[in-house]
Amino acid sequence: MEEKPPSGNSKSKLTLPTDFPKLLSQVDMAEEDRYPTGINELDRVLGGGVVPGSLVLIGGDPGIGKSTLLLQAASSLSTSGKVLYITGEESLRQVGLRAGRLGLKTNEIYLACETNLEYISEYIKKVSPRVAVVDSIQTMVHPDVTSAPGSVSQVREVTAKLMHHAKEHGTSIFIVGHVTKEGTIAGPRVLEHMVDTVLYFEGDRHQSFRVLRTVKNRFGSTNELGIFEMQGQGLVEIENPSAMFMARHPLSTAPGSVVVPSIEGTRPLLVEIQALVSSNSYGVPRRMTTGVDHNRVALIMAVLEKRVGMRMGSSDAYVNVVGGVRLLEPAVDLAVALSLASSFRDAAVPNDMVVVGEVGLTGEVRPVTSLERRLKEAEGMGFKKALVPCTGIKKMSLPDVQLYSIDTLVEAIEVALQG
Ligand SMILES: Nc1ncnc2c1ncn2[C@@H]1O[C@H](COP(=O)(O)OP(=O)(O)OP(=O)(O)O)[C@@H](O)[C@H]1O
Ligand SMILES: [Mg+2]
Repeated sequence: MEEKPPSGNSKSKLTLPTDFPKLLSQVDMAEEDRYPTGINELDRVLGGGVVPGSLVLIGGDPGIGKSTLLLQAASSLSTSGKVLYITGEESLRQVGLRAGRLGLKTNEIYLACETNLEYISEYIKKVSPRVAVVDSIQTMVHPDVTSAPGSVSQVREVTAKLMHHAKEHGTSIFIVGHVTKEGTIAGPRVLEHMVDTVLYFEGDRHQSFRVLRTVKNRFGSTNELGIFEMQGQGLVEIENPSAMFMARHPLSTAPGSVVVPSIEGTRPLLVEIQALVSSNSYGVPRRMTTGVDHNRVALIMAVLEKRVGMRMGSSDAYVNVVGGVRLLEPAVDLAVALSLASSFRDAAVPNDMVVVGEVGLTGEVRPVTSLERRLKEAEGMGFKKALVPCTGIKKMSLPDVQLYSIDTLVEAIEVALQG
C-alpha cells in the first residue's frame, strides 16, 4: 500500500530561525531611553518622553490646536535631533507663518507638503529623522488603495505602513487624526488598536484651556492629563492647574458650587462643579451636563430622589465643570450630588470645604483612592474642611484640614448644607 504523506507536509520546507522562540528571561529588558519633548505636559502624558520607534496618535476636534502643539514639540525636539514634519493640509508658507508667529527655532525641522505615502516613505528614508509628524492621517493616500483619502481602508493602510517605518527605522511618528462624528469618514477610533499611544486633545473652543489626555499607552499610564492654555504665542503649559482653576474663579458662596479634589491620571486637580436645579412648569425637564458623564448625573439624581427624598424629577438640571476639564472618575459623585442638592435647597456648601466620595445606588458613600494626596492638594490651596467617606480614613497628617467623615448621602447633606 502506498504511504500517505504526513499532513501539513508542505510546511516542513519552512526554515525556522534557530534562536526562536526565545526565553522571555533572555529578552533585553533595559528601558529604552526616551527623548524629552521639551514640553513637560506632553512628556507627562507620553509617560516620560517619546519612546524611540513608537507610533503616537493625537486626536482632537478641528481647530483645537493639534498642529500648533506638534509644531512646538517638533521645534524643541529638533534642538537635539532631526525632525521631519509632513503636512497634507497646509502649505509650506502656512506652516512657516505659524512657526514665525510662535517664535519657534526651526533649524533642524525638515518640512514637506505631501499626501502620497510612497513619497513620504522615501522622505523618511532620506532624512532619517528621529521624530516625524504626519498631519493629518485623513489626508494621506496609500497608492495601492483605491478608496478616497480619509476612508477606513485608507487610514488603516497608511497607519500600518507608518507603523512599519517606525519599527524598522526607530523613527518615532506622531499622527494627527481629526475626530469626526460621521460614520463614513474614519476617525481616530478605528486606529486606536493599531498604534502604541493614543492622546486626545480636548477643550472648549470658546475657552483658552486645552487638555491633552492619554487614552491608551503601551509605555505608561492612561488618563494622564497635560494642561495648556492657548495664547497668542501658542500653547503655554500650566504647571499648577489647581491654582489656576481656583484663581480664575474666585470661590463662590452661591448655592450649587462645590469644589472636588479629583485625580486624573497621577495628578490631583482641584476643580469646581456647579449645578443649577430650577423648576420646570412646562414640557419635559431639561438635563444638561458639561465635563461629567450625563448618565452618571441621571443616576445621582435618581439616588437623591429615592434615598434622600429630594423631588427633582420634574425640575430642569444643569451640571457644569468649571474650566472645561472632563472628570471621568466616580470619586466626583459626591460633589455632583451635593452641588445638585445645594442648588435644589438653595443652601450653599461652605466655600472652604472640599468634597470627595463615590455614591452608590443605595445612597451610601464609598471610599476613594489616594485620599491623602487629594486632601494634601486641597490643604495646599488653603481649604480648611473636607467631607470624606468614613471607610478608608487612615491616619493622615493634615494639620490644617478638619475632616468630616460620613457614611451616606443623607449624612453628607446634613453636614454640608447646615447653613
Ligand atoms: N494669530 C493667532 N493668534 C492667536 N491664536 C491663534 C492665531 N491663529 C490661530 N490661533 C489659534 O490656533 C488655533 C488653531 O490651531 P491649529 O491650527 O494648531 O489647530 P488644529 O487642531 O491643527 O486645526 P485643524 O483641524 O484645522 O488642523 C485656533 O483655533 C486659534 O485658537
Ligand atoms: Mg492642523
